Formats: sequence, structure tokens, C-alpha cells
Amino acid sequence: MEDKIKQLKEEALKAIGETQTIASLDEARIKYAGKKSDLQELLKSLGSAAPEERPKLGALVNEAKTAIELALSGRKAALQKSEQTKKIAAEKVDITMPGKGIRRGHIHPLTQVMEEAKAIFIRMGFEIAEGPEVETDYYNFDGLNIPPHHPSRDMWSTLFIKDDILLRTHTSPVQIRVMEKKKPPLAIIAPGRVYRRDSDASHSPIFQQLEGFLVNKQVTFGDLKGTLTEFLRQMFGKDKNVRFRPSFFPFTEPSAEADVECVMCKGKGCRLCKDTGWIEILGSGMIDPNVFKAVGYDPEKYSGFAFGMGIDRITMLKYGIDNIRLLYENDVRFLEQF
Ligand code: PHE
Repeated sequence: MEDKIKQLKEEALKAIGETQTIASLDEARIKYAGKKSDLQELLKSLGSAAPEERPKLGALVNEAKTAIELALSGRKAALQKSEQTKKIAAEKVDITMPGKGIRRGHIHPLTQVMEEAKAIFIRMGFEIAEGPEVETDYYNFDGLNIPPHHPSRDMWSTLFIKDDILLRTHTSPVQIRVMEKKKPPLAIIAPGRVYRRDSDASHSPIFQQLEGFLVNKQVTFGDLKGTLTEFLRQMFGKDKNVRFRPSFFPFTEPSAEADVECVMCKGKGCRLCKDTGWIEILGSGMIDPNVFKAVGYDPEKYSGFAFGMGIDRITMLKYGIDNIRLLYENDVRFLEQF
């Protein structure tokens, strides 16, 4: 009996010492200290032992029980501690690792060029005006001396919303809107988005224009040439030659297109300028008397010039971009280069 108690105690202590997890320790507790454990059975069988042996055996069993319980609680504390250490190690953050960093953005190339163009005119004393992108056909056409059904409407592939409501095809309607409200002298630029039913490598259905106009007494074609030459040289380089070619717009008379010496071949002739040595940049002209009449100005008293340019085209020329779509896809790999 005595040996059996000793053997049980040793077996229990060894098993408890070998447990590696709280779960296996719980199993050992049930096995060695539970209600149905061998030790408990031994305790019950003490009744059949000789009466003089009983106190000694009882003390032995109790001593074994205490030892086992002590071992259980000691092992439990040790296991808990090591499980916690493992958990902390697993959750550890290496604060010396470099951070992910936030990518710094910058202004879109179209906006950069638009800002640059606006700044040049603002330095010359022009003020900014804006108008709606959804326009009536009156402001987009009629007021600009383009009557309904007139073939000149074909110059603009228009996106209509309703019969007389459309997406403006140019920023020229802002001329009418400003002149209806204000009296000369006026020096205005009107930047903004415009829309046309056009789409290829150099045409996008949405693009950006910068309109400008100046009205006063005795404004001449010389004022137009001087102002636009200065603009084009600030934009493309002081050394650049500029030329004006006769053209036609219903809202200007006479009209002219302004060209700048080819940015790629410097006038020698290349693929970009189609061997002409010149790149067309903007449309312009002296404001047509019919436009003045539409806004209630006296064409005998006032004269003025107007111009309009595509900012997308200028951006493409300045940066050597060969497809307009790149400006609208917003692929950062492309945009990062500017
Ligand atoms: N509105 C014209 C266009 O989009 C450009 C222009 C503006 C021409 C002002 C002359 C005067 O084609």
C-alpha cells in the first residue's frame, strides 16, 4: 500500500512536469487529482486496511495529494507565463522598420499649363470670368453671329442635351454673358471645359479652352497681334517666331489664326509641323459688329479683339505628348513625369 501511494505520487509529479500546454495540464489534473483519480480510490479503500496502519497511510495519501496539488498550481503558473511570452513575441511590432510613406501628389499637367496661361494674361491686366458648361444654343451660337441652320455651325460637332440646350463647344459664350452685364472697357479671360463630338489621338470629347477678349474705344488689330505675340513668346520661349494667318470665325472679322515656330524642329520642318515649320495655336480676330449688336454695344463706338485656344494642345506641344487621352486617363505612372 505504501509503495503504491509513493509510485502514484511520482507518476503524477512526472506527468505534470512534462505537460506543455494548459489543456494537457487540465487533463493531468483530472487524471491525478480528480474525483475519480487513483488516489481518491486509494483513500476510499483505506477502510479495509488494518486499523493501526490507517493513520500512517492516511497521512501518506494526504501528503501525496498536497504534493500533487502544489505541482499542478506551480506548473499552471509556469505554463501561463510562457504562453504569454510567446503571444507577446508573436505580436511584437518592429518599430525600427521604415514606414510605408505617403506619396506626394502634384498639380495635373493640364492645370499647370492652364495656370501658366492665365498668369500671363493676368499680368497684362486681364480679369477672369466663367460661364456654365451646359449652355443654351443662343449663347453658344446665335449670340455669336451663328444663326440656326447656318452651315458655319458645322465647325463645332455639338453634343446636344435637348433641342436648344447643349454642352458648350467653346468658351466663346462667356463673351456674350460678360458683355450683356458689363460695359467697356473690358479685358477678360475665360478658362474652362468644353465639349465636342470628337475622339482620336488629338481630340477628346472633353477638353480645356482659354478664351480672351478686350473691348474699348479704338482697339486695333495691332493690339491683338501685340498681345498674342507677347503671350505666345512667354508661353513657348522669347526667341520664338509668331505669325498670323487669315482665317474665318463667324464672331470675328477679320479673323486670324496664330502660329508659333515649330517647338520640335525650330522651323526647319518635321513630322509634328507637317513640314511647314509652324504650329497652329489659337483662333482670334476683331469682334464682329453683329456680336456687339447682340449685346447692345454700339459697334461705331467700340471695337475689340477676341481669341480662343486649346489648353490640351498647348500642353501636348510643350511636353511632347502624342495622345490626348493620356491627359484624361489619370494613370499616375504618366502623371508623375510632369
Ligand atoms: N471659339 C473658337 C473655337 O473654339 C476660337 C475663337 C475664339 C476664335 C475667339 C476667335 C475668337 O474654335
